[in-house]
Amino acid sequence: MEIKVAASVLSADLGRLNEEVKLVEEAGADIIHFDVMDGHFVPNLSFGAPVLKCMQTQLPVDIHLMIENPEDFIEDYANSLPGGRKPNGDIISVHAEVCEHLHRVVQQVKAAGFRASVAINPGTSLTVIEEVIDDLDMVLVMTVNPGYSGQSFIESALDKVRELREARPDIDIEVDGGVNAETCRMVRDAGANILVSASYLFGSKDKAEAVSTLKGL
Ligand code: DX5
Ligand code: ZN
Repeated sequence: MEIKVAASVLSADLGRLNEEVKLVEEAGADIIHFDVMDGHFVPNLSFGAPVLKCMQTQLPVDIHLMIENPEDFIEDYANSLPGGRKPNGDIISVHAEVCEHLHRVVQQVKAAGFRASVAINPGTSLTVIEEVIDDLDMVLVMTVNPGYSGQSFIESALDKVRELREARPDIDIEVDGGVNAETCRMVRDAGANILVSASYLFGSKDKAEAVSTLKGL
């Protein structure tokens, strides 16, 4: 499978968001990863739909909702995509841990025109997505406990990537958290095809080189 890099703007200089987005686009990133935090599900706040609306990019966006009640915000994101476009290859990930009615939320994400993804924390088993997997375009396997960029990689979470890849050769598997020059090979070898990077990519002087390293080129 082709390896893609999703650049997480959580580590960008947000005062220069669009310049930073342009830099990672030019460096060869394939997706812009947009980390939404609510200070409840995760112990941090980031940004939301109004900031997404101001972003300028032609790349698909991958909206990682680390929030409670994600169902209340899906429409909002569908109406806040860069350039006012409608969802077209863009992804929403909701966390399994906060969705009492996971099946319903996944259907809502799809009905809004997004590709659907469910994210699972390092402490969450793959079994929670068993009943919805046929409806998913992607699974997001967290390799840190969500809330911050720059945390260390939790290698044991890769067992889930291996298991999932064996069961689903075609599904997109995204790994998020602590992915850098040292850990990216393990992530690819486990079977993930989308690698999220915030601190490593935005902290690299040569971003094209960092993207190539993440892709294993
Ligand atoms: C963590 C976020 C990640 C984060 C990754 O809660 O979901 O996307 O930005 O940051 P790094 O790549 O620095 O671990
Ligand atoms: Zn993320």
